[in-house]
Amino acid sequence: MGDYLEVVAQVYAEAARQPDPGLCCVPLAVWELPGLRYPSRMLEMNYGCGSTVDPREICETDTVLYIGVGGGLELLQFAYLVRRRGGVIGIDPVAEMREAAWANLLEAENLNPWFCRDFVEIRDGDALHLPLCAESVTVVAQNCLFNVFREEELQRALSEVYRVLQPQGRFYTSDPIAQQPLPRALREDARLRARCIGGCLSLEEYLTHLAKAGFGRIEVRARFPYRVLAPTEFPDLATPMLLETIEITAYKMEAGPDGPAIFVGETVTYIGTEHGWKDEVSGTYLPRGVPMPVSRKAAERLRRLPFIWYTPPTWHARPNGCC
Ligand SMILES: C[S@@+](CC[C@H](N)C(=O)[O-])C[C@H]1O[C@@H](n2cnc3c(N)ncnc32)[C@H](O)[C@@H]1O
Repeated sequence: MGDYLEVVAQVYAEAARQPDPGLCCVPLAVWELPGLRYPSRMLEMNYGCGSTVDPREICETDTVLYIGVGGGLELLQFAYLVRRRGGVIGIDPVAEMREAAWANLLEAENLNPWFCRDFVEIRDGDALHLPLCAESVTVVAQNCLFNVFREEELQRALSEVYRVLQPQGRFYTSDPIAQQPLPRALREDARLRARCIGGCLSLEEYLTHLAKAGFGRIEVRARFPYRVLAPTEFPDLATPMLLETIEITAYKMEAGPDGPAIFVGETVTYIGTEHGWKDEVSGTYLPRGVPMPVSRKAAERLRRLPFIWYTPPTWHARPNGCC
């Protein structure tokens, strides 16, 4: 472990001993689902910057690996959806955090008649060397951890995610990003890195790392303000700097010859004289007047056509098998 990773571990050991609601989270509402109740300490230890849990997609046949457990909030949410012994595996190298998450889950057992502690297993483990066999889970999730890594470790962590996922498996990831490079002094401050500030990459850099790990389909599902770094607090900055949160789902599937299909919420609509039009390159049929979600590459190609209406990224991509 490099030095900065030791600082990261110390920061989270402290955050496990004494909950710090301002550590790295945004004031987002947590999932309210029927019959799901959270222990108050678990809520105080919400150290995520977005959400990786999607009740529309996670089901009882999934086996979920969750990297970096925090106070166990998302472990409980995944357990709510999977509801199976051993269905959710959390890993974390920080003993204090594992113990705090487990204590919160035991408290959750008192509050939630549907929940049994056996649904979740928490293991000692590191994102850089996942203690799981290849192709052993259908879902991997991480929330606000991978941004703390330097790029070399980030790439290693993503390769590990890819290794343990079954083919067609999904990786749900949420991290803060920056629109411009952070000043070197901020990037090299290990505590700021641990606090989910110093390690922020641009969205394009983040997507490039996912593509390099092998993910063949990548959907940017949310993008919203995370925090604004003010020069009054960070004198190395000349002007205020916005950090944003992204929520991404990446799929373990083959990329096309020219790289992964990346969806950012763009659509194209056929507006010609026929009832519809078939894009011969992708084989996709576009009924007239119906916006179709498309990847960035397909959007780039199709939007030039005179009978196509294009809508720009919403950063809320939920494509349904389109090109
Ligand atoms: C910012 S917190 C996020 C916690 C949780 N995901 C959430 O949303 O509340 C980072 C978590 O990653 C853990 N962690 C730190 N270094 C890690 C590593 N190398 N591998 C896996 N987890 C790590 C910390 O102990 C902490 O639980």
